[in-house]
Amino acid sequence: MRAPLLLWAAATWLAVSAVAHPGRRGGGGGEQPLSRIAVESAVLAVDDAAHVRASPLVLGLKGESSEWVDVEFFHPDPSSDDWIGVFSPADFSAAICEPENPRQSPPVLCSAPIKYQFATFKNDGYNKTGKGYLKLQLINQRGDFSFALFSGGLLKPKLIAVSNKVAFANPKAPVYPRLAQGKSWNEMTVTWTSGYDITEAVPFVEWGEKGGRRFLAPAGTLTFDRNSMCGAPARTVGWRHPGYIHTSYLKDLWPDSRYTYRLGHRLMNGTRVWSKSYSFRASPYPGQDSLQRVVIFGDMGKAEADGSNEFNNFQPGSLNTTYQITSDIENIDMVVHIGDICYANGYLSQWDQFTAQIEPIASTVPYMVGSGNHERDWPGTGSFYGNLDSGGECGVPAQTVFYTPAENRAKFWYATDYGMFRFCVAHTEEDWRPGTEQYRFIERCLSSVDRQKQPWLVFLAHRVLGYSSCAYYESEGTFEEPMGREALQELWQKYKVDLAFYGHVHSYERTCPVYQSQCVVDASDHYSGPFQATTHVVVGGAGASLSEFAASKIQWSHFTDFDHGFVKLTAFNHSSLLFEYKKSRDGNVYDRFTISRDYRDVLACSVDNCPRTTLAS
Ligand SMILES: [Fe+2]
Repeated sequence: MRAPLLLWAAATWLAVSAVAHPGRRGGGGGEQPLSRIAVESAVLAVDDAAHVRASPLVLGLKGESSEWVDVEFFHPDPSSDDWIGVFSPADFSAAICEPENPRQSPPVLCSAPIKYQFATFKNDGYNKTGKGYLKLQLINQRGDFSFALFSGGLLKPKLIAVSNKVAFANPKAPVYPRLAQGKSWNEMTVTWTSGYDITEAVPFVEWGEKGGRRFLAPAGTLTFDRNSMCGAPARTVGWRHPGYIHTSYLKDLWPDSRYTYRLGHRLMNGTRVWSKSYSFRASPYPGQDSLQRVVIFGDMGKAEADGSNEFNNFQPGSLNTTYQITSDIENIDMVVHIGDICYANGYLSQWDQFTAQIEPIASTVPYMVGSGNHERDWPGTGSFYGNLDSGGECGVPAQTVFYTPAENRAKFWYATDYGMFRFCVAHTEEDWRPGTEQYRFIERCLSSVDRQKQPWLVFLAHRVLGYSSCAYYESEGTFEEPMGREALQELWQKYKVDLAFYGHVHSYERTCPVYQSQCVVDASDHYSGPFQATTHVVVGGAGASLSEFAASKIQWSHFTDFDHGFVKLTAFNHSSLLFEYKKSRDGNVYDRFTISRDYRDVLACSVDNCPRTTLAS
């Protein structure tokens, strides 16, 4: 296929690449691999003697949403920095690129590939023969696909040849369901992605108790356009239409009952398009005494199973974490991913890739997300931090692709209950200090829980508002996100928050029960009796490149691990909780502790949390 003829490298587009490389922050390693490609500098150098061929032409003939493609290519003038870019839609022409202003002329390549791989990958002889072969995994993400051979490396790409197109049999098919807790305990929400606009088909979920009567639940549909993005690359080379995001609310569920469901679209001619069937177990009644298991992590990101995009070791632990959680899914009831979700950083195709990666988890148990710097931050848009970490997304994809039971999904703080747990999820990309709307939410969330029914009270946030001895926070001299614990520690203590979890720092750390930077009791593998102080846990090592610890050990820091991993909480009953930290590489437990506590212990006083008493009798 011939690429379009016009090619411009307009000076204004250089601004695109300037913001496409967000600086490294305390969380470390947030650079999106696709941002390494100077898309705006590409030139046309089609060589008729070169070719790229992809097969099979039609994917997903048995309804699969993911399939491997064989890509065979030849370049008569090969070089070690030649690469193959995967484009979707297949026609990556100037026609689909809107200039930011009338004086701007778009270049030929106005959209980044959805992934790429070097031509020499597993092709040792390529530099001599010019012949290469790649096996690449594609997921159904609405458009068709083409594969383009470039020379000139990533910084001076020259388009040499473009393949035939390949496409999924139904590119619009409903895919990647993600469950989330609704606003009440007996409501489960199902969110999915399709290519069907509401003018074309009516979205719904067919569901019911396993083996029982089937119900149809309508779904709402959301999408967003390029103009909803706050800047480049999300508005420019990283833009890709997100498709249509549907959410259905399955209500009046029976506690712990097993339900099955499938996603449907009724086309205007009456035919119905179905997804495959999935199942989930409804949430327990709040306060219910039963086995309840919740997995918590941050900063997982995504990775490509075919090895593409991986040259800079972007999110090396991501697939391992996904695999470990998937293989233990029968023993997990809910997942909380506390921000830095997929690090799309303005390359919107990556949201599809991420929802495909977590499908085995998110289609089976509620997958609750928080928002981090890589979802939200953008200058001048109301984020607490004025950096470029979201790549111009300014929170829009995160709050649309995932449902959260937030009062206002743009603000991204919410409470959710699971049986004997209450989770208060904060949003560190907006101000949390006393006097703010978020502070009022946090206090309301912590104070409104009936601890006799829900003894396990958990606070979560993306950045480390509590304690971290990572090298970055040490160099800042704060050992936390500035203004974090100063603003919130009195609330944690007053309301006896058992555990506080954070991401952002890509490693694992557990403190002693700590208040005002002092261990109130020594760290232990078993706590019993009255609540003393909150244990703070950094669990941001689910996938992204690891963060170093400070050289010296800090007094409140009990256990650190420079590796990828996640936490699993198991509430056996109202008085017994097990905490386990597992490595993503093997799923084994490397740190653990238990809490034994009766209700009278929750009522008992310790430092700064005694309710007032009167001398009257
Ligand atoms: Fe982060």
